[in-house]
Amino acid sequence: MGTPTVSDLSVVVVGATGAVGREMVATLDRRKFPVGRLRLMASERSAGTTIDTAWGEVTVENLAEADPSGIEIALFSAGGARSKEYAPRFAEAGAVVVDNSSAWRMDPKVPLVVADVNDQAVLEHEGIIANPNCTTMVLLMALGPLHRAATLTELVATSYQSVSGSGRRGISTLLEEVEHFGKDTEALCDGTWKEPAGGLYARPIGWNVVPFAGSEVSEGYTDEELKLVNETRKILAAPDVAIEPTCVRVPVLVSHGIAASVWFERDMSVAEAEELIGAAPGIELWSEKVPTPLDAAGIDEVLAGRLRPTLGRPGGLSFWVVGDNLRKGAALNAVQIAELVVA
Ligand code: A2P
Repeated sequence: MGTPTVSDLSVVVVGATGAVGREMVATLDRRKFPVGRLRLMASERSAGTTIDTAWGEVTVENLAEADPSGIEIALFSAGGARSKEYAPRFAEAGAVVVDNSSAWRMDPKVPLVVADVNDQAVLEHEGIIANPNCTTMVLLMALGPLHRAATLTELVATSYQSVSGSGRRGISTLLEEVEHFGKDTEALCDGTWKEPAGGLYARPIGWNVVPFAGSEVSEGYTDEELKLVNETRKILAAPDVAIEPTCVRVPVLVSHGIAASVWFERDMSVAEAEELIGAAPGIELWSEKVPTPLDAAGIDEVLAGRLRPTLGRPGGLSFWVVGDNLRKGAALNAVQIAELVVA
Protein backbone atom coordinates (compact mmCIF):
# COMPACT_ATOMS: atom_id res chain seq x y z
CA MET A 1 0.00 0.00 0.00
CA GLY A 2 1.47 3.34 -1.06
CA THR A 3 1.17 6.67 0.68
CA PRO A 4 -0.46 9.19 -1.64
CA THR A 5 1.24 12.45 -2.56
CA VAL A 6 -0.45 15.83 -2.50
CA SER A 7 -2.08 16.36 -5.88
CA ASP A 8 -5.74 16.04 -6.59
CA LEU A 9 -6.47 12.96 -4.57
CA SER A 10 -9.35 10.60 -5.09
CA VAL A 11 -11.32 10.83 -1.84
CA VAL A 12 -14.44 9.05 -0.61
CA VAL A 13 -16.67 9.84 2.35
CA VAL A 14 -18.48 6.69 3.49
CA GLY A 15 -21.62 7.58 5.48
CA ALA A 16 -21.81 10.88 3.60
CA THR A 17 -25.50 11.42 4.38
CA GLY A 18 -25.01 11.22 8.17
CA ALA A 19 -24.36 13.93 10.74
CA VAL A 20 -20.58 13.33 10.75
CA GLY A 21 -20.34 12.46 7.04
CA ARG A 22 -21.86 15.76 6.01
CA GLU A 23 -19.44 17.59 8.28
CA MET A 24 -16.57 15.62 6.69
CA VAL A 25 -17.52 16.87 3.23
CA ALA A 26 -17.76 20.45 4.54
CA THR A 27 -14.42 20.10 6.34
CA LEU A 28 -12.61 18.85 3.21
CA ASP A 29 -13.78 22.04 1.50
CA ARG A 30 -13.10 24.39 4.44
CA ARG A 31 -9.54 23.12 4.85
CA LYS A 32 -8.88 23.02 1.11
CA PHE A 33 -7.93 19.36 1.23
CA PRO A 34 -6.47 18.48 -2.18
CA VAL A 35 -9.49 16.61 -3.50
CA GLY A 36 -9.36 15.81 -7.20
CA ARG A 37 -12.37 13.53 -7.27
CA LEU A 38 -14.90 13.22 -4.44
CA ARG A 39 -17.07 10.13 -4.11
CA LEU A 40 -19.87 9.77 -1.58
CA MET A 41 -21.21 6.47 -0.25
CA ALA A 42 -24.01 5.47 2.09
CA SER A 43 -26.61 2.71 2.36
CA GLU A 44 -28.85 1.58 -0.46
CA ARG A 45 -31.54 3.84 1.08
CA SER A 46 -29.67 6.95 -0.11
CA ALA A 47 -27.98 5.49 -3.18
CA GLY A 48 -28.83 7.52 -6.29
CA THR A 49 -29.63 10.72 -4.39
CA THR A 50 -27.37 13.70 -5.05
CA ILE A 51 -25.50 16.02 -2.70
CA ASP A 52 -24.27 19.48 -3.63
CA THR A 53 -20.58 19.80 -2.81
CA ALA A 54 -17.71 22.18 -3.54
CA TRP A 55 -16.74 19.68 -6.25
CA GLY A 56 -20.16 19.77 -7.91
CA GLU A 57 -23.23 17.63 -7.49
CA VAL A 58 -22.20 14.12 -6.44
CA THR A 59 -24.44 11.06 -6.68
CA VAL A 60 -24.40 8.90 -3.56
CA GLU A 61 -23.21 5.35 -4.23
CA ASN A 62 -24.37 2.22 -2.44
CA LEU A 63 -21.42 1.15 -0.29
CA ALA A 64 -22.31 -2.52 -0.68
CA GLU A 65 -21.93 -2.32 -4.46
CA ALA A 66 -19.22 0.32 -4.86
CA ASP A 67 -15.83 -0.43 -6.41
CA PRO A 68 -13.07 0.94 -4.14
CA SER A 69 -10.30 0.82 -6.72
CA GLY A 70 -8.50 4.09 -7.36
CA ILE A 71 -9.52 5.64 -4.03
CA GLU A 72 -6.58 7.15 -2.15
CA ILE A 73 -8.21 8.54 0.99
CA ALA A 74 -11.38 7.03 2.51
CA LEU A 75 -13.12 8.75 5.41
CA PHE A 76 -15.50 6.27 7.07
CA SER A 77 -18.39 7.25 9.33
CA ALA A 78 -21.14 4.76 8.64
CA GLY A 79 -21.12 2.72 11.84
CA GLY A 80 -18.87 0.01 13.22
CA ALA A 81 -20.34 -2.90 11.25
CA ARG A 82 -19.62 -1.16 7.92
CA SER A 83 -16.11 -0.24 9.04
CA LYS A 84 -15.37 -3.80 10.14
CA GLU A 85 -16.47 -5.18 6.81
CA TYR A 86 -15.43 -2.53 4.28
CA ALA A 87 -12.42 -0.68 5.73
CA PRO A 88 -10.07 -3.66 5.11
CA ARG A 89 -11.42 -4.03 1.56
CA PHE A 90 -10.81 -0.36 0.82
CA ALA A 91 -7.32 -0.54 2.36
CA GLU A 92 -6.61 -3.67 0.35
CA ALA A 93 -7.60 -1.77 -2.81
CA GLY A 94 -4.99 0.91 -1.99
CA ALA A 95 -6.85 3.52 0.07
CA VAL A 96 -5.71 4.91 3.39
CA VAL A 97 -8.83 4.57 5.53
CA VAL A 98 -9.51 7.04 8.35
CA ASP A 99 -12.22 5.35 10.37
CA ASN A 100 -14.51 7.25 12.72
CA SER A 101 -16.16 4.16 14.21
CA SER A 102 -14.94 2.20 17.22
CA ALA A 103 -14.37 -0.93 15.10
CA TRP A 104 -10.58 -0.65 14.79
CA ARG A 105 -9.56 1.73 17.56
CA MET A 106 -8.15 -0.81 19.96
CA ASP A 107 -6.49 -2.99 17.30
CA PRO A 108 -2.75 -2.89 18.12
CA LYS A 109 -1.93 -2.58 14.40
CA VAL A 110 -4.17 0.47 14.00
CA PRO A 111 -2.96 3.91 15.12
CA LEU A 112 -5.44 5.96 17.16
CA VAL A 113 -4.65 9.58 16.50
CA VAL A 114 -5.68 12.93 17.94
CA ALA A 115 -4.14 15.50 15.60
CA ASP A 116 -1.96 17.92 17.57
CA VAL A 117 -1.63 15.38 20.42
CA ASN A 118 -0.02 12.20 19.03
CA ASP A 119 0.56 12.96 15.34
CA GLN A 120 3.59 10.71 15.07
CA ALA A 121 1.40 7.61 15.58
CA VAL A 122 0.09 8.11 12.03
CA LEU A 123 3.40 6.82 10.65
CA GLU A 124 2.70 3.28 11.90
CA HIS A 125 -0.42 2.65 9.81
CA GLU A 126 -1.06 -0.40 7.64
CA GLY A 127 -3.94 1.09 5.68
CA ILE A 128 -6.39 1.89 8.50
CA ILE A 129 -6.09 4.77 10.98
CA ALA A 130 -8.70 5.20 13.70
CA ASN A 131 -10.33 8.46 14.73
CA PRO A 132 -10.96 8.44 18.51
CA ASN A 133 -14.31 8.64 20.25
CA CYS A 134 -15.65 12.22 20.29
CA THR A 135 -15.58 12.61 24.08
CA THR A 136 -12.06 11.23 24.39
CA MET A 137 -10.92 13.52 21.59
CA VAL A 138 -12.18 16.70 23.26
CA LEU A 139 -10.72 15.71 26.65
CA LEU A 140 -7.35 14.78 25.16
CA MET A 141 -6.92 18.19 23.56
CA ALA A 142 -6.53 19.56 27.09
CA LEU A 143 -5.00 16.51 28.70
CA GLY A 144 -2.36 15.81 26.03
CA PRO A 145 -0.20 18.88 26.71
CA LEU A 146 -0.51 18.42 30.49
CA HIS A 147 0.46 14.75 30.28
CA ARG A 148 3.47 15.52 28.10
CA ALA A 149 4.74 17.90 30.77
CA ALA A 150 4.04 15.94 33.95
CA THR A 151 2.85 12.35 33.15
CA LEU A 152 -0.75 11.63 34.04
CA THR A 153 -1.38 9.10 36.83
CA GLU A 154 -5.10 9.53 37.63
CA LEU A 155 -8.14 10.93 35.91
CA VAL A 156 -11.72 11.30 37.13
CA ALA A 157 -13.90 12.40 34.21
CA THR A 158 -17.60 13.05 33.74
CA SER A 159 -18.86 13.78 30.24
CA TYR A 160 -21.83 15.94 29.20
CA GLN A 161 -22.49 14.58 25.72
CA SER A 162 -24.78 16.12 23.11
CA VAL A 163 -27.30 14.13 21.12
CA SER A 164 -25.58 14.62 17.76
CA GLY A 165 -23.00 12.13 19.08
CA SER A 166 -25.71 9.53 18.37
CA GLY A 167 -26.18 10.75 14.79
CA ARG A 168 -29.35 11.97 13.12
CA ARG A 169 -31.59 9.85 15.36
CA GLY A 170 -30.16 11.50 18.46
CA ILE A 171 -30.95 14.92 17.04
CA SER A 172 -34.50 14.02 16.01
CA THR A 173 -35.18 12.36 19.39
CA LEU A 174 -34.21 15.51 21.30
CA LEU A 175 -36.23 17.81 19.03
CA GLU A 176 -39.31 15.57 19.25
CA GLU A 177 -39.10 15.17 23.03
CA VAL A 178 -38.62 18.90 23.65
CA GLU A 179 -41.77 19.47 21.61
CA HIS A 180 -43.64 16.67 23.41
CA PHE A 181 -42.81 18.04 26.89
CA GLY A 182 -43.24 21.66 25.78
CA LYS A 183 -46.98 21.04 25.37
CA ASP A 184 -47.33 20.73 29.16
CA THR A 185 -44.33 22.12 31.06
CA GLU A 186 -46.32 22.10 34.35
CA ALA A 187 -46.21 18.31 34.17
CA LEU A 188 -42.42 18.44 34.23
CA CYS A 189 -42.58 20.07 37.67
CA ASP A 190 -45.40 18.10 39.27
CA GLY A 191 -44.39 14.69 37.98
CA THR A 192 -47.45 14.04 35.79
CA TRP A 193 -45.45 14.04 32.51
CA LYS A 194 -46.07 11.29 29.98
CA GLU A 195 -43.27 9.12 28.62
CA PRO A 196 -42.57 10.16 25.01
CA ALA A 197 -42.82 7.42 22.39
CA GLY A 198 -39.99 6.13 20.25
CA GLY A 199 -36.99 7.74 21.98
CA LEU A 200 -33.43 6.63 21.36
CA TYR A 201 -32.09 6.78 24.92
CA ALA A 202 -32.46 4.77 28.13
CA ARG A 203 -34.63 7.59 29.56
CA PRO A 204 -36.20 10.69 27.95
CA ILE A 205 -33.59 13.28 26.91
CA GLY A 206 -35.95 16.27 26.35
CA TRP A 207 -35.73 18.64 29.37
CA ASN A 208 -33.76 15.94 31.15
CA VAL A 209 -30.27 14.50 31.76
CA VAL A 210 -29.50 10.82 31.24
CA PRO A 211 -26.56 9.60 33.33
CA PHE A 212 -26.05 6.65 31.01
CA ALA A 213 -24.50 7.29 27.60
CA GLY A 214 -23.99 4.24 25.39
CA SER A 215 -25.01 0.72 26.32
CA GLU A 216 -23.97 -1.31 29.32
CA VAL A 217 -21.10 -3.64 28.67
CA SER A 218 -19.51 -4.70 31.93
CA GLU A 219 -19.82 -4.24 35.68
CA GLY A 220 -22.16 -1.28 35.34
CA TYR A 221 -19.96 0.62 32.87
CA THR A 222 -21.16 1.63 29.41
CA ASP A 223 -19.25 1.20 26.20
CA GLU A 224 -18.82 5.00 26.06
CA GLU A 225 -17.17 4.93 29.49
CA LEU A 226 -14.84 2.09 28.56
CA LYS A 227 -13.89 3.87 25.33
CA LEU A 228 -12.87 6.88 27.41
CA VAL A 229 -10.63 4.65 29.54
CA ASN A 230 -9.09 2.48 26.82
CA GLU A 231 -8.65 5.15 24.17
CA THR A 232 -7.12 7.67 26.59
CA ARG A 233 -4.57 5.07 27.66
CA LYS A 234 -3.74 4.15 24.06
CA ILE A 235 -3.44 7.74 22.76
CA LEU A 236 -1.25 8.84 25.67
CA ALA A 237 0.71 5.56 25.61
CA ALA A 238 -0.05 5.37 29.33
CA PRO A 239 -1.51 1.89 29.86
CA ASP A 240 -1.48 2.06 33.65
CA VAL A 241 -3.16 5.41 34.19
CA ALA A 242 -6.12 5.09 36.61
CA ILE A 243 -9.36 6.43 35.10
CA GLU A 244 -12.84 6.78 36.65
CA PRO A 245 -15.34 7.62 33.87
CA THR A 246 -19.03 8.60 33.93
CA CYS A 247 -20.70 9.42 30.60
CA VAL A 248 -23.88 11.49 30.65
CA ARG A 249 -26.19 12.45 27.78
CA VAL A 250 -27.52 16.01 27.99
CA PRO A 251 -30.23 17.83 26.00
CA VAL A 252 -27.76 19.74 23.84
CA LEU A 253 -27.63 19.45 20.04
CA VAL A 254 -23.89 19.86 19.42
CA SER A 255 -20.70 19.81 21.56
CA HIS A 256 -19.51 17.50 24.29
CA GLY A 257 -18.19 18.84 27.59
CA ILE A 258 -16.02 17.03 30.11
CA ALA A 259 -15.47 17.94 33.77
CA ALA A 260 -12.17 16.35 34.82
CA SER A 261 -9.90 16.08 37.83
CA VAL A 262 -6.36 14.94 37.10
CA TRP A 263 -3.22 14.10 39.03
CA PHE A 264 0.31 13.69 37.67
CA GLU A 265 3.61 12.15 38.74
CA ARG A 266 4.34 15.56 40.24
CA ASP A 267 2.21 18.45 41.44
CA MET A 268 0.91 20.80 38.78
CA SER A 269 -0.08 24.40 39.46
CA VAL A 270 -2.93 26.18 37.73
CA ALA A 271 -0.43 28.69 36.34
CA GLU A 272 1.61 25.94 34.67
CA ALA A 273 -1.51 24.24 33.29
CA GLU A 274 -2.76 27.57 31.90
CA GLU A 275 0.56 28.11 30.20
CA LEU A 276 0.58 24.59 28.70
CA ILE A 277 -3.01 24.72 27.45
CA GLY A 278 -2.59 28.33 26.32
CA ALA A 279 0.37 27.33 24.13
CA ALA A 280 -1.21 24.17 22.68
CA PRO A 281 -2.65 24.20 19.14
CA GLY A 282 -6.37 23.65 18.55
CA ILE A 283 -7.47 24.61 22.05
CA GLU A 284 -8.35 27.99 23.57
CA LEU A 285 -8.22 28.81 27.26
CA TRP A 286 -11.16 30.94 28.38
CA SER A 287 -10.56 32.86 31.61
CA GLU A 288 -13.11 35.66 31.36
CA LYS A 289 -16.15 33.61 30.39
CA VAL A 290 -17.12 30.00 31.12
CA PRO A 291 -17.06 28.11 27.81
CA THR A 292 -20.27 26.18 27.12
CA PRO A 293 -21.45 23.77 24.41
CA LEU A 294 -23.15 26.65 22.59
CA ASP A 295 -19.82 28.50 22.46
CA ALA A 296 -18.01 25.48 21.05
CA ALA A 297 -20.62 24.49 18.44
CA GLY A 298 -19.62 25.23 14.86
CA ILE A 299 -15.97 26.08 15.57
CA ASP A 300 -12.80 24.04 15.17
CA GLU A 301 -11.17 25.00 18.49
CA VAL A 302 -11.81 23.09 21.70
CA LEU A 303 -12.43 25.42 24.66
CA ALA A 304 -11.05 24.95 28.18
CA GLY A 305 -11.91 26.82 31.37
CA ARG A 306 -12.46 26.70 35.12
CA LEU A 307 -8.90 25.52 35.83
CA ARG A 308 -8.53 25.17 39.60
CA PRO A 309 -6.41 23.22 42.06
CA THR A 310 -7.83 19.97 43.47
CA LEU A 311 -9.19 20.31 46.99
CA GLY A 312 -9.47 16.86 48.57
CA ARG A 313 -6.11 15.64 47.40
CA PRO A 314 -3.95 18.67 46.62
CA GLY A 315 -1.41 18.71 43.79
CA GLY A 316 -3.84 17.92 40.99
CA LEU A 317 -6.03 20.01 38.77
CA SER A 318 -9.75 20.24 38.00
CA PHE A 319 -10.96 21.73 34.73
CA TRP A 320 -13.73 21.87 32.15
CA VAL A 321 -13.25 21.34 28.44
CA VAL A 322 -15.84 21.48 25.67
CA GLY A 323 -15.64 20.90 21.92
CA ASP A 324 -17.81 20.41 18.86
CA ASN A 325 -18.23 16.63 18.66
CA LEU A 326 -18.92 16.77 14.92
CA ARG A 327 -15.84 18.92 14.23
CA LYS A 328 -12.78 18.20 16.41
CA GLY A 329 -14.67 15.26 17.91
CA ALA A 330 -15.07 13.64 14.49
CA ALA A 331 -14.86 15.24 11.04
CA LEU A 332 -12.13 17.80 11.63
CA ASN A 333 -9.82 15.30 13.29
CA ALA A 334 -10.47 12.75 10.51
CA VAL A 335 -9.47 15.31 7.88
CA GLN A 336 -6.47 16.39 9.97
CA ILE A 337 -5.37 12.72 10.05
CA ALA A 338 -5.70 12.62 6.26
CA GLU A 339 -3.59 15.78 6.07
CA LEU A 340 -0.91 14.12 8.22
CA VAL A 341 -0.97 11.10 5.88
CA VAL A 342 -0.40 13.18 2.75
CA ALA A 343 2.07 15.61 4.35
P1 A2P B 1 -28.04 6.32 5.03
O1 A2P B 1 -28.37 7.80 5.08
O2 A2P B 1 -28.18 5.77 3.66
O3 A2P B 1 -28.78 5.54 6.08
P2 A2P B 1 -26.05 8.98 11.24
O4 A2P B 1 -25.40 8.18 12.34
O5 A2P B 1 -25.82 10.45 11.39
O6 A2P B 1 -27.48 8.64 11.09
O7 A2P B 1 -25.30 8.57 9.89
C1 A2P B 1 -25.05 7.23 9.55
C2 A2P B 1 -24.43 7.16 8.16
O8 A2P B 1 -24.08 5.80 7.92
C3 A2P B 1 -25.38 7.57 7.06
O9 A2P B 1 -24.68 8.15 6.00
C4 A2P B 1 -25.97 6.25 6.65
O10 A2P B 1 -26.47 6.20 5.34
C5 A2P B 1 -24.73 5.36 6.73
N1 A2P B 1 -25.12 3.96 6.82
C6 A2P B 1 -25.93 3.38 7.75
N2 A2P B 1 -26.10 2.07 7.46
C7 A2P B 1 -25.37 1.82 6.35
C8 A2P B 1 -25.14 0.66 5.54
N3 A2P B 1 -25.69 -0.51 5.83
N4 A2P B 1 -24.34 0.79 4.45
C9 A2P B 1 -23.80 1.97 4.13
N5 A2P B 1 -23.98 3.10 4.85
C10 A2P B 1 -24.75 3.03 5.94
